[in-house]
Amino acid sequence: MGARSSRRDQEGATPSRVVAGRPRLFLTGAGARTEHCEIAAYEGLVTMAEAMGETEVAELLTKDLEQERAALEKLQSPQGRLG
Ligand SMILES: [Fe+2]
Repeated sequence: MGARSSRRDQEGATPSRVVAGRPRLFLTGAGARTEHCEIAAYEGLVTMAEAMGETEVAELLTKDLEQERAALEKLQSPQGRLG
């Protein structure tokens, strides 16, 4: 990111969006929070589907849950934070 685009980005950003010149860190943190919420939601849905005897639904939801966990892991990796 050059100095020109950096100034342009900061002019349009809220103070919380640009943290010590590292806006990507903020965006990654927001993404991680979202993934945590999605994981919690899917865990509840899987439990509910299993309790209802809906094994096929539970399996499909478990696949989605695994994707959410993989997304969180990627966000928490050094490459996900800085890449
Ligand atoms: Fe997600």
